[in-house]
Order: sequence, then C-alpha cells, then structure tokens
Amino acid sequence: MCGIVAYIGKQDAYPILIKGLKRLEYRGYDSSGVSVLNGDLQIFKKKGKVKDLVDHVGNHRVKGTVGIGHTRWATHGKPNDINAHPHVSGNKRLSLIHNGIIENYQPLKEALIKLGHTFESDTDTEVLTHLIEEIQTRDDLPIDEAVRIALTKVIGAYAIVVLDKENPDILVAARKASPLVIGIGRDEFFVASDASPIIEHTKKVVYLNDEEIAVVKRDGTLSIKNIDNQIQNPFIEELDLKLDAIEKGDFDSFMLKEIYEQPESILDCMRGRINAEEGWIKVGGVETKMEEFLNAKRIIIAACGTSWIAGLIGEYLFEELARISVEVEYASELRYRNPIIEEGDIVIALSQSGETADTLAALHLAKDKNALLYGIVNVVGSSIARLTDTGSYIHAGPEIGVASTKAFTGQVTLLTMLAIYLGYEKGRIPRPYYAQLLRELENIPSKVKRILEKDDHIKYIASEIKDATNALYLGRGYNFPVALEGALKLKEISYIHAEGYPAAEMKHGPIALIDENMPVVVIATNMSAHDKIVSNIQEVKARKGVVIAIINEGDNVIKEIADYVIEIPATDEPLTPLLSVVPLQLLSYHIAIMRGCNVDQPRNLAKSVTVE
Ligand code: M6R
Repeated sequence: MCGIVAYIGKQDAYPILIKGLKRLEYRGYDSSGVSVLNGDLQIFKKKGKVKDLVDHVGNHRVKGTVGIGHTRWATHGKPNDINAHPHVSGNKRLSLIHNGIIENYQPLKEALIKLGHTFESDTDTEVLTHLIEEIQTRDDLPIDEAVRIALTKVIGAYAIVVLDKENPDILVAARKASPLVIGIGRDEFFVASDASPIIEHTKKVVYLNDEEIAVVKRDGTLSIKNIDNQIQNPFIEELDLKLDAIEKGDFDSFMLKEIYEQPESILDCMRGRINAEEGWIKVGGVETKMEEFLNAKRIIIAACGTSWIAGLIGEYLFEELARISVEVEYASELRYRNPIIEEGDIVIALSQSGETADTLAALHLAKDKNALLYGIVNVVGSSIARLTDTGSYIHAGPEIGVASTKAFTGQVTLLTMLAIYLGYEKGRIPRPYYAQLLRELENIPSKVKRILEKDDHIKYIASEIKDATNALYLGRGYNFPVALEGALKLKEISYIHAEGYPAAEMKHGPIALIDENMPVVVIATNMSAHDKIVSNIQEVKARKGVVIAIINEGDNVIKEIADYVIEIPATDEPLTPLLSVVPLQLLSYHIAIMRGCNVDQPRNLAKSVTVE
C-alpha cells in the first residue's frame, strides 16, 4: 500500500527521498511523487515506478533540505500523474502525502466546493489538503493546529505528512490506523511508513500512536500531541534491524532470498523457545497468560491471505495436540459479522506486517467483547503488536517480497510450538511423543535446507508446466492448507489461475476441469492418508491430468504413478506443512520467472494492506 517518506535536516532531501521511496517499493504502488521545499514547492509526480519519477525529474536540480515523498497504491481515482501524491492546497502553500482512506471525503469536498475550492484530482487526499488549508487560513492557525482540527473532522484511516511553504523548518505528521515511524538523527528527522527507509540513517525511532500528531523541527526538536490537544511523551526505541536484511545481496529477487533464508528464519523463531535435549518448550507471550490459555473455551484465529492459511494449520495443530476448539476466520468477514466472542475466548491475530487493516479491525471488535488478544506478528512495533494483550514475534526478519514465504513458515513454526506447549501443559501429549516432536522440530531447519538443494529439479518441473493456464493443488489433513498456500503463491506471482482443494473434495466439482492440460499438484507426504491420496492421484491420471506429487523420500508407490515427483524428507505429521510448502514456493517462483513476471512486486498487490 502507499508508502510515505519525509526528511528535514541539513542534507539535500531529494536523494534521501528517492532512496527511501525505492526501499518502500515492496509495499506495492502504481505512481510516485516528491515535493521539496526551497522557497517554492518543487513537486514532481509520475505514474509508474520510482525510476519513471526519476526520469521525469531528469536534469532539474531539486534542491532543498526539507521534503516529502510518496508511493501511491490507488484507492480513490485511477493511477495517473494527477492523482499521484503529493497533493497541494488551493493556495499552493501546503503539500501533503497520505496513506489510508478518508471515508467522508465526499461531504467534505462538497462543503469545500461551496466555499470556493476547486479540485484537480479524484483523490480523497486532495480534499484533506484543502480542508487543512481552509482551517489554517480561516482561523489564521499554526499549521500543526490546523492539521489537528482538520483531523477531528475526518472519518477513516490516515498516515500523513504535511509540508508548509511558510514554515520551512517544520514537518507535521499524524496517524490513525496507518503506520508511521519517525527516525531521529542528529539535527535531522526522517518520517516513513516503516523503518526500511530510515535504518541506514538512524536506529532511534518513535512509532506514532493512533490519533497522534507530531511536529519535527529542523532545530532537532520533536513534539507530539494527541487529537484532543494533550501533550504526549515520545517513546524512543532502538531499531534491531540490519541494512543487509532489507537488501537482495547475491539473489536476483527478494522472494528467492527469503525462500532460501528459511532454515535460518525458522531457527530464529525457535531460538530460546525450545530445547529438545533438555526436553522443554515455552513461548514467552503465552507463559505470562498460561491460566487463560489452559482455561480457554475457544481460540479464534483472525487473519488474511497467507496468514489466514497459516491459521488454518493452527486449527489442525491446536485441535490435535492441545484439544482446544478453534475457529479460523477471515478478519474481513469477522469484523462485519456479529460474531459470538465472549470473555474467556482467546483471539489470535496472525499477521506478517502487523498492519493489515481488516485484522486490526477484527481485533478492536474482539477487544470490545473482552476476549484476550494474542498477536503473532513479524514486524516489531507494528500496530497489532501494540494493540494485543500479549503476543510473540516470529523473528523472520524483514520480508520484502510481496509473496509471503518465510513469514508463513515462521507463523507455522510459532503455532506448532504453541500447540505442543499447550498440549503438554494440558497433559494431552504423552512424554515420549512430546520428546519426539521437540527433536523433530529442531531438525526442521536442516530438512528445509535439503529441500532447497532440489531447486534445479523443481526448476525443471516448472519449465514443463509453465504454460498452463490453470492448476489444481490437492492435499489432505495438514497438507490441505498447504495446497491452498501453493495455489495462492502460484496465482499471485505468475497470474496462473490456481485452486487449492481438499483432495477428497475433488470429486465434488473440480474433477470436471481435469484434462491433459491441467497440472495437478498433489501434496502427499502425510502417511495417515497415503492410500487415500494414492486413489486421488489415480483418479486424476484416469482423466489424463498431469500429476506433480510432493512425496516423502523413497515413496515408490506414488513415484510409479505420478508424472513428476519432488521427494522431501519425512517428518512427524503435524510438522509436515513446514517442509511440504517449500517446494511449492520454489515451483511458483520458477514458473513466474519463466513467464517474465515481477515476483517481488506482482501487479495490483500490496505487501501491507493498510486499507480495507
Ligand atoms: O501482513 P499480513 O500477514 O497481515 O498480510 C496478509 C495478506 O495480505 C498476505 O498474507 C498476502 O496474502 C500475501 N501477499 C500472500 O503472499
């Protein structure tokens, strides 16, 4: 979704803004722009990539030590140069960038038109810019006060930064339901949607809270007020993030780098939480709320996209290992139903970014109903991490590729640890099986490494099926959610239509689609359903479907009947998703690359979906 970057200090703002915008590209966008103040506002905006913006700026010397930059992911108005941010006020004094949606922009716009304002773009953001102008000029207010009052009139979500031509020594930033971070340098400030444009300049940051308005000044002062005009104390934090974590290094894409990071990221997720030799497992965020977890009537998992799929694996795990009843909900549906959530329920939010608008809204609803909120997130300091009563980070490190890979395996690792931990505490897992699960969990990173060694073979299979227009993914038990994830990965980065199905459901509809042009990826590593899945494969073969089977090493039965097999190391059934998903990530990756697709920034997608 939209990315924000802003700078005030002693350095030239333009190169900092452009570099920052490039760091934010992963969020997904369709146009970009900058506004740099040097007496006048120098504004450049362009549809397309940041590179197109830089070409558009060309040889213009964009000088000035204060400025704002933006990558836009269209919500109101199509992606074009005019709708791109920054927007300017009617009197050309203010310039503003925005991430979010102003829901009541239409009545505000009509009221402003009656007051004589005219608008150039179709955006809600331009309306907000004029509203601030109107309040500032009507009451002759300082810019931060005009921003504050304007925001009291706004319904919706926003992260904004405002540049005022008449106040070259300050920037005003504010947020509600869209993230904003302030980086504190030496006599300079950076403002951004996330820490990625900031870390190469400073590690000292302040995360703005909802309905807070910050003023950063060139003299090095930072002040924060809330929307009710009360002064707030900035809480300065130290970023624990290295620059190489957000760079591609020797890899051609972030997605491939992140797939290959999984042995390490899974290990990082388990670090300090499990020791098979000493026979213990613990998850900090749960330890402090153990009573609530042991007595939970029900767990509700709320998430979107790949995180929702990880949640589905969580349901299988919690029910089998801990005997706790679980419901997995699309956050976007949960928030608009009138769900039965009661005191004693635990709501687990799963989110890589920790900023997904629907997941946040579902959590607010659950909070109002007095459920205990537990967050499993990757991005440290994110909104979900701060809203929940307790939680655990998955420690996957920055995930830049839009297609989630290492965050998914991190989420599943965390859920697996949690289910084993709770199951054992509840006396549901016998000691020998507990010890075996811990040992096996510790073996997962090295087994993932062995799967990555099969990359060339997977690439070959990709070359055989890359021209398909449809694909079916089938799995049973723990591998059914993996089938969903394989299909989601393929469609989002290669634009091939793909469906994930429980293997036995195939007969109830999708079997009609199967012919010699239909690749069917069967995830067949769970031995408890082996005979059944063999029958499913036979059914596909009988209709001339092309079967690509993910099997355990040495499974000669399926090897005999499938067209292609990818053999992976065996493991205990509850841990299978952590292995069986990896070949599917590589398969989609190679197919997408062979089809000439941009795997890191697939069309229309955003990394962090901060609007509903
Ligand atoms: O940051 P979140 O985990 O809350 O994001 C949820 C989805 O938007 C995300 O998983 C999306 O489906 C990915 N593009 C999947 O690869």
